Amino acid sequence: MATSITLVIGASRGIGRELIQQISQEPSQQVIASVRKPTDLINASNISSIILDQADRKSVQAAAAQVTEIDTLIINAAFGDAEKVLTTSDERLSEYFNVNVGGPLRIVQEFLPALLARQTRRIILISSESGSMTRQINAKGGFSGPYAVSKAAANMVIVQLHNELHDQGFTLQAIHPGWVATDMGRMTGPGGMPIHKSVEGILQRVNEAKHEDSPRFVAFDGSTMPW
Ligand SMILES: NC(=O)c1ccc[n+]([C@@H]2O[C@H](COP(=O)([O-])OP(=O)(O)OC[C@H]3O[C@@H](n4cnc5c(N)ncnc54)[C@H](OP(=O)(O)O)[C@@H]3O)[C@@H](O)[C@H]2O)c1
Repeated sequence: MATSITLVIGASRGIGRELIQQISQEPSQQVIASVRKPTDLINASNISSIILDQADRKSVQAAAAQVTEIDTLIINAAFGDAEKVLTTSDERLSEYFNVNVGGPLRIVQEFLPALLARQTRRIILISSESGSMTRQINAKGGFSGPYAVSKAAANMVIVQLHNELHDQGFTLQAIHPGWVATDMGRMTGPGGMPIHKSVEGILQRVNEAKHEDSPRFVAFDGSTMPW
């Protein structure tokens, strides 16, 4: 069977780490895991790693120079904390935008030649319910504040990339992973779902993503999310 190449950004822990674990179970898949520093990853012959910080253009460029072909790009890396917009400093807001909004855009810009080298041309953003304008109105739980602002802007990056790339055969999708018991998910308390369950759903959504449905915002369980 022909090899399919998936690049997962932010694979050191949490959802990203489980993504490479599950994708690599399929021998026809080749997985490239991006991490910020050398990290012990799952030991499998179909997993390789690259080092990058998506907040840093030069770091992303240096990593992209090592990758010639990608079928599916999954941009998973982000950070978040429980904060309020009213008490967010200029510096903190810039940090959110640099990592969570500029990061995904930088990744697509620099890895575009590798995506164009294959025909699949699939770009997935691990988004959040926090990035849904509709769901955030009067929202009580989960991360809101500047994290939510950054995730809504990241969703708009996906929409704009769709507008610019759809005619070249690209499929863009934003996926809400649900509330997941990762380092980030546990910051809002106990009760997040096991990581493997969210990732099983995410990968079903990735595999069924269709060019004609792009751009779509969908939850891990297949339900449609309002932008
Ligand atoms: N967990 C939830 O309940 C939940 C809910 C909704 C949405 N999400 C979204 O799901 C995605 C994954 O979250 P998670 O829960 O797995 O979070 P996590 O456990 O905190 O892991 C975050 C990952 O992103 C990486 N990362 C952070 N900043 C980076 C940067 N500047 N450059 C490259 N990598 C960077 C981290 O690398 P290091 O190890 O180097 O820090 C780590 O691998 C995020 O986009 C998050 O917004 C999560």
